Amino acid sequence: MDPVLEDDIREQLAMNRDRTAPPDDAVPVPPIPVGRYRDPQMYELETERVWRRTWLFAAHESDLAEPGSYRTFERSGAPIVIVRGEDGTVRAFYNSCRHRGAPVVRDDCGTARRLTCQYHSWSYDLAGTLRAVPDVRSFAGLDQDSLGLVPVRCEVWEGWVFVNEDPAAEPLVDFLGPLCEQMKEVDGPSLRRVGTQVHHVNANWKAMVDAFLEVYHIRTVHPDNAALLYDDSTVSVAMLPHGHSRLSVAVRPELMGVMDPSPAADNPSVGRLWRETSTSFGWFPNVVAPLDTGAFPLLCMWPVDERTTELELQWFAPSWGDGDMPEEHAVRMTLFETVMDQDTANMAAIQRSVESHGARPFQIGWHERLIHHFHRAVDLAIGVDRVPAGLAVSDALDRFVEEA
Ligand code: FES
Ligand SMILES: [Fe+2]
Repeated sequence: MDPVLEDDIREQLAMNRDRTAPPDDAVPVPPIPVGRYRDPQMYELETERVWRRTWLFAAHESDLAEPGSYRTFERSGAPIVIVRGEDGTVRAFYNSCRHRGAPVVRDDCGTARRLTCQYHSWSYDLAGTLRAVPDVRSFAGLDQDSLGLVPVRCEVWEGWVFVNEDPAAEPLVDFLGPLCEQMKEVDGPSLRRVGTQVHHVNANWKAMVDAFLEVYHIRTVHPDNAALLYDDSTVSVAMLPHGHSRLSVAVRPELMGVMDPSPAADNPSVGRLWRETSTSFGWFPNVVAPLDTGAFPLLCMWPVDERTTELELQWFAPSWGDGDMPEEHAVRMTLFETVMDQDTANMAAIQRSVESHGARPFQIGWHERLIHHFHRAVDLAIGVDRVPAGLAVSDALDRFVEEA
Protein backbone atom coordinates (compact mmCIF):
# COMPACT_ATOMS: atom_id res chain seq x y z
CA MET A 1 0.00 0.00 0.00
CA ASP A 2 1.13 3.55 -0.69
CA PRO A 3 3.12 4.74 2.38
CA VAL A 4 1.28 8.08 2.42
CA LEU A 5 -2.07 6.31 2.55
CA GLU A 6 -0.75 3.91 5.17
CA ASP A 7 0.28 6.85 7.38
CA ASP A 8 -3.11 8.40 6.85
CA ILE A 9 -4.87 5.19 7.91
CA ARG A 10 -2.67 4.90 11.00
CA GLU A 11 -3.49 8.50 11.89
CA GLN A 12 -7.21 7.81 11.54
CA LEU A 13 -6.93 4.67 13.64
CA ALA A 14 -5.24 6.64 16.44
CA MET A 15 -7.64 9.57 16.15
CA ASN A 16 -10.69 7.32 16.46
CA ARG A 17 -9.15 5.36 19.32
CA ASP A 18 -8.54 8.54 21.32
CA ARG A 19 -11.57 10.70 20.56
CA THR A 20 -14.31 11.26 23.15
CA ALA A 21 -16.83 12.88 20.77
CA PRO A 22 -17.63 12.60 17.06
CA PRO A 23 -14.69 13.68 14.87
CA ASP A 24 -14.62 17.35 13.85
CA ASP A 25 -15.75 16.65 10.30
CA ALA A 26 -18.61 14.32 11.29
CA VAL A 27 -22.14 15.23 10.21
CA PRO A 28 -25.47 13.58 11.06
CA VAL A 29 -25.98 10.64 8.72
CA PRO A 30 -29.45 10.86 7.15
CA PRO A 31 -31.68 7.89 8.05
CA ILE A 32 -32.12 4.93 5.69
CA PRO A 33 -35.76 4.37 4.61
CA VAL A 34 -36.67 0.78 5.46
CA GLY A 35 -38.88 0.29 2.42
CA ARG A 36 -35.62 -0.22 0.58
CA TYR A 37 -35.39 -3.65 2.16
CA ARG A 38 -38.87 -4.83 1.21
CA ASP A 39 -40.27 -2.89 -1.74
CA PRO A 40 -40.84 -5.13 -4.81
CA GLN A 41 -40.38 -2.21 -7.20
CA MET A 42 -37.06 -1.34 -5.59
CA TYR A 43 -36.01 -4.96 -5.99
CA GLU A 44 -37.02 -4.98 -9.64
CA LEU A 45 -35.07 -1.79 -10.29
CA GLU A 46 -32.03 -3.33 -8.63
CA THR A 47 -32.39 -6.39 -10.85
CA GLU A 48 -32.54 -4.31 -13.98
CA ARG A 49 -30.22 -1.43 -13.12
CA VAL A 50 -27.71 -2.77 -10.59
CA TRP A 51 -27.20 -6.46 -11.31
CA ARG A 52 -27.41 -6.19 -15.10
CA ARG A 53 -25.30 -3.04 -15.40
CA THR A 54 -22.51 -3.32 -12.85
CA TRP A 55 -19.21 -5.16 -12.87
CA LEU A 56 -19.85 -8.30 -10.81
CA PHE A 57 -17.17 -10.53 -9.34
CA ALA A 58 -17.66 -13.84 -11.15
CA ALA A 59 -14.56 -16.03 -10.85
CA HIS A 60 -10.87 -16.17 -10.16
CA GLU A 61 -8.42 -16.81 -12.97
CA SER A 62 -7.32 -20.02 -11.27
CA ASP A 63 -10.85 -21.34 -11.92
CA LEU A 64 -10.02 -21.08 -15.62
CA ALA A 65 -6.61 -22.64 -15.52
CA GLU A 66 -6.13 -23.72 -19.15
CA PRO A 67 -7.53 -23.02 -22.62
CA GLY A 68 -11.04 -24.47 -22.71
CA SER A 69 -11.64 -24.16 -18.94
CA TYR A 70 -15.11 -22.74 -18.44
CA ARG A 71 -17.43 -21.76 -15.63
CA THR A 72 -21.05 -20.67 -15.73
CA PHE A 73 -22.29 -17.53 -13.98
CA GLU A 74 -25.97 -16.71 -13.56
CA ARG A 75 -25.93 -14.12 -10.77
CA SER A 76 -26.73 -11.15 -12.98
CA GLY A 77 -29.98 -12.90 -13.91
CA ALA A 78 -28.89 -14.29 -17.28
CA PRO A 79 -27.12 -17.54 -18.17
CA ILE A 80 -23.48 -16.68 -18.88
CA VAL A 81 -20.46 -18.86 -19.58
CA ILE A 82 -16.93 -17.64 -18.90
CA VAL A 83 -14.23 -19.45 -20.85
CA ARG A 84 -10.49 -19.22 -21.42
CA GLY A 85 -9.62 -19.15 -25.11
CA GLU A 86 -6.81 -20.84 -27.01
CA ASP A 87 -5.03 -17.47 -26.86
CA GLY A 88 -5.27 -17.39 -23.06
CA THR A 89 -7.87 -14.60 -23.01
CA VAL A 90 -10.79 -15.01 -20.64
CA ARG A 91 -14.10 -14.21 -22.38
CA ALA A 92 -17.77 -14.38 -21.45
CA PHE A 93 -20.79 -15.17 -23.58
CA TYR A 94 -24.46 -15.73 -23.03
CA ASN A 95 -24.79 -19.48 -22.58
CA SER A 96 -27.36 -19.54 -25.30
CA CYS A 97 -27.09 -21.27 -28.65
CA ARG A 98 -27.80 -19.16 -31.71
CA HIS A 99 -29.95 -21.93 -33.18
CA ARG A 100 -32.80 -22.07 -30.65
CA GLY A 101 -31.36 -20.94 -27.35
CA ALA A 102 -30.29 -24.10 -25.58
CA PRO A 103 -27.17 -23.84 -23.38
CA VAL A 104 -23.81 -24.53 -24.98
CA VAL A 105 -22.42 -25.82 -21.68
CA ARG A 106 -24.51 -27.62 -19.09
CA ASP A 107 -22.08 -28.28 -16.26
CA ASP A 108 -21.21 -25.51 -13.77
CA CYS A 109 -17.57 -25.84 -14.74
CA GLY A 110 -15.34 -28.01 -16.87
CA THR A 111 -13.01 -28.05 -19.82
CA ALA A 112 -13.99 -28.22 -23.48
CA ARG A 113 -12.26 -27.77 -26.82
CA ARG A 114 -15.52 -26.65 -28.39
CA LEU A 115 -18.72 -25.34 -26.85
CA THR A 116 -21.24 -27.71 -28.33
CA CYS A 117 -24.96 -27.32 -27.86
CA GLN A 118 -26.58 -30.56 -26.74
CA TYR A 119 -29.85 -29.85 -28.52
CA HIS A 120 -28.78 -30.14 -32.17
CA SER A 121 -24.99 -29.93 -31.78
CA TRP A 122 -24.22 -26.53 -33.16
CA SER A 123 -20.64 -26.03 -32.13
CA TYR A 124 -18.64 -22.90 -31.26
CA ASP A 125 -14.93 -22.38 -30.75
CA LEU A 126 -13.56 -20.90 -27.53
CA ALA A 127 -13.76 -17.39 -29.01
CA GLY A 128 -17.48 -17.89 -29.61
CA THR A 129 -17.35 -18.28 -33.39
CA LEU A 130 -19.85 -20.75 -34.85
CA ARG A 131 -17.77 -23.59 -36.33
CA ALA A 132 -20.16 -26.43 -37.14
CA VAL A 133 -23.83 -26.82 -38.02
CA PRO A 134 -25.00 -30.41 -38.52
CA ASP A 135 -27.08 -30.94 -41.66
CA VAL A 136 -26.25 -27.44 -42.83
CA ARG A 137 -27.77 -28.32 -46.22
CA SER A 138 -31.21 -27.90 -44.63
CA PHE A 139 -30.69 -24.20 -43.83
CA ALA A 140 -31.22 -21.82 -46.72
CA GLY A 141 -29.10 -18.68 -46.60
CA LEU A 142 -27.55 -19.32 -43.17
CA ASP A 143 -24.87 -16.71 -42.43
CA GLN A 144 -22.68 -18.68 -40.03
CA ASP A 145 -20.19 -15.83 -39.61
CA SER A 146 -22.82 -13.65 -37.98
CA LEU A 147 -24.01 -16.37 -35.62
CA GLY A 148 -21.31 -16.42 -32.97
CA LEU A 149 -22.20 -16.63 -29.30
CA VAL A 150 -23.36 -13.26 -27.99
CA PRO A 151 -20.49 -11.74 -25.99
CA VAL A 152 -20.79 -10.34 -22.47
CA ARG A 153 -18.26 -7.82 -21.15
CA CYS A 154 -15.62 -9.69 -19.18
CA GLU A 155 -12.44 -8.19 -17.74
CA VAL A 156 -9.81 -9.44 -15.35
CA TRP A 157 -8.00 -7.37 -12.75
CA GLU A 158 -5.19 -9.01 -10.77
CA GLY A 159 -6.66 -12.46 -11.21
CA TRP A 160 -10.24 -11.47 -10.31
CA VAL A 161 -12.67 -12.04 -13.18
CA PHE A 162 -15.64 -9.70 -13.49
CA VAL A 163 -18.55 -9.65 -15.92
CA ASN A 164 -20.97 -6.89 -16.81
CA GLU A 165 -24.05 -7.29 -18.99
CA ASP A 166 -23.91 -3.62 -19.96
CA PRO A 167 -22.01 -3.42 -23.28
CA ALA A 168 -21.43 0.31 -22.66
CA ALA A 169 -19.97 -0.11 -19.17
CA GLU A 170 -16.78 1.76 -18.31
CA PRO A 171 -13.62 -0.38 -18.19
CA LEU A 172 -13.29 -2.51 -15.05
CA VAL A 173 -10.19 -0.68 -13.82
CA ASP A 174 -12.02 2.66 -14.02
CA PHE A 175 -14.90 1.17 -12.05
CA LEU A 176 -12.58 -0.24 -9.38
CA GLY A 177 -10.63 3.03 -9.26
CA PRO A 178 -8.47 3.36 -6.13
CA LEU A 179 -9.21 -0.24 -5.10
CA CYS A 180 -6.72 -1.34 -7.75
CA GLU A 181 -3.81 0.39 -6.08
CA GLN A 182 -4.95 -0.29 -2.52
CA MET A 183 -5.53 -4.04 -2.98
CA LYS A 184 -2.54 -4.82 -5.15
CA GLU A 185 -0.37 -6.15 -2.35
CA VAL A 186 -2.57 -9.22 -1.88
CA ASP A 187 -1.14 -10.34 -5.25
CA GLY A 188 -4.42 -11.71 -6.61
CA PRO A 189 -2.90 -13.77 -9.44
CA SER A 190 -0.89 -15.85 -6.93
CA LEU A 191 -3.97 -16.89 -4.95
CA ARG A 192 -5.75 -20.22 -5.04
CA ARG A 193 -9.33 -21.07 -4.26
CA VAL A 194 -9.54 -23.12 -1.06
CA GLY A 195 -13.25 -23.58 -0.55
CA THR A 196 -16.76 -22.20 -0.57
CA GLN A 197 -19.30 -21.87 2.23
CA VAL A 198 -22.92 -20.95 1.65
CA HIS A 199 -25.43 -19.52 4.13
CA HIS A 200 -29.08 -18.94 3.28
CA VAL A 201 -30.29 -15.75 4.85
CA ASN A 202 -33.94 -14.75 5.18
CA ALA A 203 -33.38 -11.06 4.63
CA ASN A 204 -32.89 -8.56 1.85
CA TRP A 205 -29.39 -8.66 0.36
CA LYS A 206 -28.70 -5.07 1.41
CA ALA A 207 -29.27 -5.88 5.09
CA MET A 208 -26.57 -8.53 4.81
CA VAL A 209 -24.18 -6.14 3.03
CA ASP A 210 -24.84 -3.53 5.78
CA ALA A 211 -23.68 -6.06 8.38
CA PHE A 212 -20.20 -6.24 6.87
CA LEU A 213 -19.70 -2.48 6.45
CA GLU A 214 -19.33 -1.64 10.13
CA VAL A 215 -17.57 -3.06 13.19
CA TYR A 216 -19.91 -1.39 15.69
CA HIS A 217 -21.58 -4.78 16.25
CA ILE A 218 -18.55 -6.87 17.05
CA ARG A 219 -18.66 -6.43 20.83
CA THR A 220 -22.26 -7.61 21.00
CA VAL A 221 -22.44 -10.10 18.13
CA HIS A 222 -18.93 -11.55 18.25
CA PRO A 223 -17.95 -11.29 21.95
CA ASP A 224 -16.11 -14.59 21.90
CA ASN A 225 -14.04 -14.18 18.73
CA ALA A 226 -13.70 -10.93 16.70
CA ALA A 227 -14.19 -8.68 19.75
CA LEU A 228 -11.36 -10.42 21.57
CA LEU A 229 -9.00 -9.83 18.68
CA TYR A 230 -10.01 -6.38 17.38
CA ASP A 231 -10.54 -3.04 19.10
CA ASP A 232 -13.71 -1.67 17.50
CA SER A 233 -12.89 1.88 18.57
CA THR A 234 -9.65 1.90 16.58
CA VAL A 235 -11.01 2.12 13.07
CA SER A 236 -10.43 3.86 9.77
CA VAL A 237 -13.16 4.20 7.17
CA ALA A 238 -13.00 5.40 3.55
CA MET A 239 -15.87 6.08 1.17
CA LEU A 240 -14.35 5.36 -2.24
CA PRO A 241 -15.84 6.22 -5.66
CA HIS A 242 -18.60 4.06 -7.21
CA GLY A 243 -19.87 2.84 -3.83
CA HIS A 244 -16.65 0.99 -2.98
CA SER A 245 -15.19 1.26 0.49
CA ARG A 246 -12.35 0.42 2.84
CA LEU A 247 -12.71 -0.41 6.54
CA SER A 248 -9.79 -1.11 8.87
CA VAL A 249 -10.03 -2.16 12.50
CA ALA A 250 -6.93 -2.58 14.65
CA VAL A 251 -5.79 -5.83 16.19
CA ARG A 252 -5.56 -5.33 19.97
CA PRO A 253 -1.89 -4.52 20.68
CA GLU A 254 -1.53 -7.37 23.17
CA LEU A 255 -2.73 -9.86 20.54
CA MET A 256 -0.62 -8.62 17.65
CA GLY A 257 0.67 -11.59 15.67
CA VAL A 258 -1.52 -14.31 17.19
CA MET A 259 -3.47 -14.74 13.96
CA ASP A 260 -0.41 -14.61 11.72
CA PRO A 261 -0.16 -17.69 9.54
CA SER A 262 2.85 -19.99 9.55
CA PRO A 263 5.43 -19.23 6.84
CA ALA A 264 3.96 -22.02 4.65
CA ALA A 265 0.53 -20.39 4.73
CA ASP A 266 1.59 -16.76 4.66
CA ASN A 267 1.26 -14.26 1.84
CA PRO A 268 4.69 -12.58 1.73
CA SER A 269 3.49 -9.68 -0.40
CA VAL A 270 1.15 -8.45 2.36
CA GLY A 271 2.65 -5.60 4.35
CA ARG A 272 2.56 -4.52 7.97
CA LEU A 273 -0.64 -2.53 8.06
CA TRP A 274 -2.72 -5.55 7.05
CA ARG A 275 -1.08 -7.56 9.80
CA GLU A 276 -1.87 -4.93 12.42
CA THR A 277 -5.49 -4.54 11.31
CA SER A 278 -8.34 -6.33 9.65
CA THR A 279 -8.75 -4.34 6.45
CA SER A 280 -11.71 -5.15 4.28
CA PHE A 281 -12.69 -3.65 0.96
CA GLY A 282 -16.27 -3.26 -0.21
CA TRP A 283 -16.59 -4.01 -3.92
CA PHE A 284 -19.87 -2.42 -4.92
CA PRO A 285 -22.45 -3.83 -5.13
CA ASN A 286 -22.17 -7.09 -3.24
CA VAL A 287 -18.71 -8.22 -2.20
CA VAL A 288 -16.86 -7.50 1.02
CA ALA A 289 -13.26 -8.63 0.84
CA PRO A 290 -11.40 -8.86 4.18
CA LEU A 291 -8.05 -9.40 2.50
CA ASP A 292 -5.57 -11.08 4.77
CA THR A 293 -2.12 -12.57 5.09
CA GLY A 294 -3.29 -16.20 4.91
CA ALA A 295 -6.65 -17.58 3.81
CA PHE A 296 -9.48 -15.07 3.53
CA PRO A 297 -13.02 -15.13 2.17
CA LEU A 298 -14.74 -12.93 -0.35
CA LEU A 299 -18.15 -12.42 1.23
CA CYS A 300 -20.59 -12.34 -1.69
CA MET A 301 -24.22 -11.36 -1.12
CA TRP A 302 -26.45 -12.67 -3.91
CA PRO A 303 -30.14 -11.76 -3.85
CA VAL A 304 -32.60 -14.61 -4.34
CA ASP A 305 -35.71 -12.46 -3.92
CA GLU A 306 -36.65 -9.33 -1.93
CA ARG A 307 -36.33 -11.16 1.36
CA THR A 308 -33.87 -13.96 0.66
CA THR A 309 -30.13 -13.79 0.15
CA GLU A 310 -27.45 -16.32 -0.53
CA LEU A 311 -24.32 -15.42 1.40
CA GLU A 312 -21.50 -17.16 -0.40
CA LEU A 313 -18.00 -17.18 1.08
CA GLN A 314 -15.42 -17.85 -1.55
CA TRP A 315 -12.12 -18.58 0.18
CA PHE A 316 -8.71 -17.88 -1.28
CA ALA A 317 -5.19 -18.40 0.03
CA PRO A 318 -1.64 -17.88 -1.20
CA SER A 319 -0.49 -20.71 -3.41
CA TRP A 320 1.22 -23.50 -1.46
CA GLY A 321 2.96 -25.25 -4.35
CA ASP A 322 2.52 -28.96 -5.03
CA GLY A 323 1.98 -30.26 -1.51
CA ASP A 324 -1.22 -30.56 0.51
CA MET A 325 -3.09 -27.42 1.49
CA PRO A 326 -1.79 -26.13 4.86
CA GLU A 327 -4.14 -27.38 7.57
CA GLU A 328 -4.50 -23.91 9.07
CA HIS A 329 -6.50 -22.70 6.06
CA ALA A 330 -9.16 -25.32 6.83
CA VAL A 331 -9.03 -24.41 10.53
CA ARG A 332 -9.55 -20.75 9.75
CA MET A 333 -12.50 -21.57 7.49
CA THR A 334 -14.10 -23.63 10.23
CA LEU A 335 -13.62 -20.91 12.84
CA PHE A 336 -15.15 -18.39 10.50
CA GLU A 337 -18.36 -20.42 10.27
CA THR A 338 -19.09 -19.42 13.85
CA VAL A 339 -18.56 -15.75 13.02
CA MET A 340 -20.92 -16.06 10.05
CA ASP A 341 -23.55 -17.84 12.13
CA GLN A 342 -23.39 -14.89 14.51
CA ASP A 343 -23.58 -12.34 11.67
CA THR A 344 -26.58 -14.00 10.04
CA ALA A 345 -28.49 -14.70 13.28
CA ASN A 346 -30.16 -11.27 13.38
CA MET A 347 -31.13 -11.10 9.75
CA ALA A 348 -34.49 -12.87 9.60
CA ALA A 349 -35.74 -10.88 12.58
CA ILE A 350 -34.59 -7.60 11.01
CA GLN A 351 -36.47 -8.52 7.84
CA ARG A 352 -39.66 -9.23 9.79
CA SER A 353 -39.19 -5.91 11.50
CA VAL A 354 -38.79 -3.88 8.30
CA GLU A 355 -41.89 -5.56 6.91
CA SER A 356 -43.98 -4.64 9.95
CA HIS A 357 -46.05 -1.53 10.63
CA GLY A 358 -43.59 -0.71 13.33
CA ALA A 359 -40.77 -0.19 10.87
CA ARG A 360 -39.09 3.22 11.01
CA PRO A 361 -36.04 4.60 9.15
CA PHE A 362 -32.66 3.27 10.31
CA GLN A 363 -30.50 5.69 12.34
CA ILE A 364 -26.92 5.42 11.15
CA GLY A 365 -23.89 6.55 13.14
CA TRP A 366 -21.00 8.41 11.56
CA HIS A 367 -18.85 5.33 12.21
CA GLU A 368 -21.38 3.33 10.13
CA ARG A 369 -21.40 5.75 7.22
CA LEU A 370 -20.20 3.15 4.73
CA ILE A 371 -23.73 1.73 4.93
CA HIS A 372 -25.17 5.03 3.76
CA HIS A 373 -22.48 5.25 1.10
CA PHE A 374 -23.42 1.79 -0.20
CA HIS A 375 -27.14 2.63 -0.32
CA ARG A 376 -26.44 5.91 -2.08
CA ALA A 377 -24.47 4.00 -4.74
CA VAL A 378 -27.44 1.65 -5.22
CA ASP A 379 -29.64 4.72 -5.85
CA LEU A 380 -27.11 6.21 -8.26
CA ALA A 381 -26.90 2.92 -10.16
CA ILE A 382 -30.69 2.79 -10.41
CA GLY A 383 -30.94 6.51 -11.21
CA VAL A 384 -32.20 8.61 -8.28
CA ASP A 385 -35.29 9.73 -10.21
CA ARG A 386 -36.40 6.15 -10.68
CA VAL A 387 -36.15 5.16 -7.01
CA PRO A 388 -39.71 4.69 -5.65
CA ALA A 389 -41.07 7.74 -3.79
CA GLY A 390 -39.71 8.12 -0.29
CA LEU A 391 -37.15 5.33 -0.59
CA ALA A 392 -34.07 7.16 -1.86
CA VAL A 393 -31.25 7.97 0.56
CA SER A 394 -29.84 11.46 0.85
CA ASP A 395 -26.95 12.93 -1.15
CA ALA A 396 -25.69 14.66 1.99
CA LEU A 397 -22.56 12.51 2.30
CA ASP A 398 -21.49 12.79 -1.34
CA ARG A 399 -18.82 15.33 -0.46
CA PHE A 400 -17.08 12.78 1.76
CA VAL A 401 -16.44 10.38 -1.11
CA GLU A 402 -12.71 10.29 -1.85
CA GLU A 403 -11.42 11.37 -5.22
CA ALA A 404 -10.94 8.70 -7.87
S1 FES B 1 -30.55 -25.10 -29.89
FE1 FES B 1 -28.44 -25.37 -30.05
S2 FES B 1 -28.21 -26.67 -31.73
FE2 FES B 1 -30.32 -26.34 -31.62
FE1 LIG C 1 -19.83 -9.43 12.02
